[in-house]
Amino acid sequence: MNNSTLKKYFQVTLGCQMNEHDSEVIAAMLESKGYNPVSSAEDADLIIINTCAVRKKPEDKVASLLGKYAALKEINKNLIIAVGGCMTQQSDAAHYIKDRFHFVDLVFGTHALPRLPELIDQASESKSAILDISEDYLDRDKLPVSHGSSFKAWLPIIYGCNNYCSYCVVPFVRGSERSRPFHDIINDAKQLAENGYLEITLLGQNVNSYGNDLNNGVGFTDLLKEINSIEGLRRIRFMTSHPKDLSVKLIETIAMGELLCEHFHLPVQSGSNRILGLMNRKYTKEKYLNLIKEIKDMIPGASITSDIIIGFPGENESDFQETLNLVQEARFDNAFSFIYSPRNNTAAAKMKETLSHAEKEDRLLRFNEVQHKISKEINLSLVGSTAELLVEGPSKNNPEQQTGRTRTNKLVHFSHSEDLTANFAEVIITEARTWNLVGELE
Ligand code: 5AD
Ligand code: SF4
Repeated sequence: MNNSTLKKYFQVTLGCQMNEHDSEVIAAMLESKGYNPVSSAEDADLIIINTCAVRKKPEDKVASLLGKYAALKEINKNLIIAVGGCMTQQSDAAHYIKDRFHFVDLVFGTHALPRLPELIDQASESKSAILDISEDYLDRDKLPVSHGSSFKAWLPIIYGCNNYCSYCVVPFVRGSERSRPFHDIINDAKQLAENGYLEITLLGQNVNSYGNDLNNGVGFTDLLKEINSIEGLRRIRFMTSHPKDLSVKLIETIAMGELLCEHFHLPVQSGSNRILGLMNRKYTKEKYLNLIKEIKDMIPGASITSDIIIGFPGENESDFQETLNLVQEARFDNAFSFIYSPRNNTAAAKMKETLSHAEKEDRLLRFNEVQHKISKEINLSLVGSTAELLVEGPSKNNPEQQTGRTRTNKLVHFSHSEDLTANFAEVIITEARTWNLVGELE
C-alpha cells in the first residue's frame, strides 16, 4: 500500500501496564487494517482513548481529552473518535460517554478488543455511535501485538481477577481470572527472544494466581522456571503480586533463577488489620511483614515496592499511624500512595466515608514525607556500589546522559554522549536522589 493512502491513527493510553499492552494489541490490529500511527491528534483519521477505571482521576481525564477532540471533529468530518478500555466496560460510564459526548463514534469495553476491526468499520459507516460493552470474553490470545519497544516487552499470563478487594473495580471491568495456556506463553517468550528482546515483564492483576483455573497442576513458579531457561533473554520481571498468594516457593524460585529480577511489587494497601479486613485483602500486617522479612533474608538486595490507599472509609488516625509504622518497618524502596476513590459496584462504595478530602490530602502528604525519606536513605546506601543497567536511551532532560534500569528496577542516569539504547552497562553509583540514582560507567 502506498504511504500516502494509509489512514492515520492516534492513540492515548491511560492506566496500568495491562492497558499499555492492550494498546499494543490495538495498534497491531489497526496497522493490519492499513492505519499508520501519528504522534498528534490533529493529524489523525482515527483517535482512540484506551481508558482506566481504577480511580476517579483517570476517568476525569477522559472528559478533558474528549473536550479537546470535539473541535477536531469540526475540522475533519470523517474523523472517527473511539473510546475503549476499563472505564467503558462499565455500562453507566459507557452510556455517559455516548450521550454526553455525542460526537464519539465508538464506545467499546475491554472484552470487545478482538472485535475492534469490525467495530471500526461499523463506526465509519454508521451515523449513530456504536456501543459494544458485551460481557463475552472472546479468545484474545491469537491477536497480533505491535510492541512499543524493540528490546523489552509486556507478556500477559493471566487476565482478570477473582479477589474482589472491596475498593477495586478491576474484577468488574476485566472479568474473572483466565490463565493463558502454558505453552502459548512459552512460545511467545521464545519468539520475543528470537526477535532480540532482552527483557520480558509477565503481566497479570495477580500473577500468583496463574494456573489456578487451568486445573493441570501448573503454577506461576513452573512458568518462571521454564522462561528462565529461554536462551537469549536477559531479564524477566513480573507484576503484580498479591501478598496473600506469594509463597516461599516463589521467593526461592526468584532467588535461584538467573534471569529473574530481584524486584517485588507487593501492594500492601494499609498497615491496619482492621482496614485490611474491610478491604477484603485476606492477610494481616504481621503476615505481610513476615513475607518482607523472608524476601530480604532469601534475596539480600532485593527491592520491594508497594501501593497504599489513603483514606479508606472508616480509616481513623490510629489506623493511619499503623500504616506509617508498617512503612517504617517494611522500608519499601518506593510506595505509590493513592487517595481512596469510591468505585461503582464495589463493596466499599457502600461504606460510609468518614474523612473530608482535606483530611485525606493531609494524610497523603504525611505519608509521602515518611516514604520519600526512606526511599532517599535506601538510595544513599547504594552509593559506591556497582550495578548492571539495561539502557533505555538518552535521559529525558539531558541528551548528554543515558538512562538505564538496574535489575531491582531503579532508574540510573550516567554521562555518555553516545546512544546506548538496548545495551547493558556497568556503572558505579555516585549520587542518590529520592526517585533515581546517578552513576558513572565503570
Ligand atoms: N481508590 C484508590 N486507589 C485504588 N487502587 C485501586 N482501587 C482504588 C480505589 N478505589 C490502587 C491500589 C492498587 C493500585 C493499582 O491502585 O493501591 O494497588
Ligand atoms: Fe483489584 Fe484486589 Fe484484584 Fe488487585 S487483587 S486487581 S486490588 S481486586
